[in-house]
Amino acid sequence: MRVSRVLSYKKQDHYYHLAKKEGYRARSAYKLKQMQKKFKIIRRGNVVVDLGAAPGAWTQVAAEIVGNKGRIIAVDKNPIRSFYKENIITQQMDMRSKRLFNYLVDEVGKKANVVISDLAGNTTGEWRLDSERQQYLATLAFVVSKSLLVKGGNFVTKIFRGPNIKEFEDDVKPFFKSVKHWRPPATRKKSAEEYMICIGFTGDTENDE
Ligand SMILES: C[S@@+](CC[C@H](N)C(=O)[O-])C[C@H]1O[C@@H](n2cnc3c(N)ncnc32)[C@H](O)[C@@H]1O
Repeated sequence: MRVSRVLSYKKQDHYYHLAKKEGYRARSAYKLKQMQKKFKIIRRGNVVVDLGAAPGAWTQVAAEIVGNKGRIIAVDKNPIRSFYKENIITQQMDMRSKRLFNYLVDEVGKKANVVISDLAGNTTGEWRLDSERQQYLATLAFVVSKSLLVKGGNFVTKIFRGPNIKEFEDDVKPFFKSVKHWRPPATRKKSAEEYMICIGFTGDTENDE
């Protein structure tokens, strides 16, 4: 997309302007706010792991909800500008690296109340390829969340709509009390994205001691 078209697109976008006005780092803040309003994913005092967190709008929203007694661990392969708050840790690491997995297990252990993943790669416009890549990122997030969540914890991940989602959903469903798909109103109309909202982690028998 040409730079001029991107700029004019932004100018017309309600959530882009709202984010600027309310001090959020990106319009995506409103997707998490809308999810929170509907599903009450995060609670005060929670430990939240935010995957694919840059530039940090979801981290801002999550931090407002958990308050000073909660903790956010925000991870992205790109740098995340510091929040200068003790209870928000930012880490630049790639989801595909073993180092990240080990870091999260050491830093969080099995104490995360919520894992939120807005992980997304660059899209090519070729639907099948983009959707497979998205499913791969969602699978990485799911694997991480099984190792970090407390029983009863919640997991949210970005997915692309399409037939291959059924297979992923079948993998995820046995581990949660409820799994739903939802598209927040703040999602751009042309986007294929939606979120899988997984409530009430029931445990990972393979990895539980
Ligand atoms: C849609 S943006 C996230 C926006 C963020 N939730 C916010 O509200 O500011 C998707 C993010 O996923 C990150 N990402 C994509 N692939 C990744 C990977 N393999 N490891 C870590 N981060 C990745 C990108 O760098 C990008 O910052």
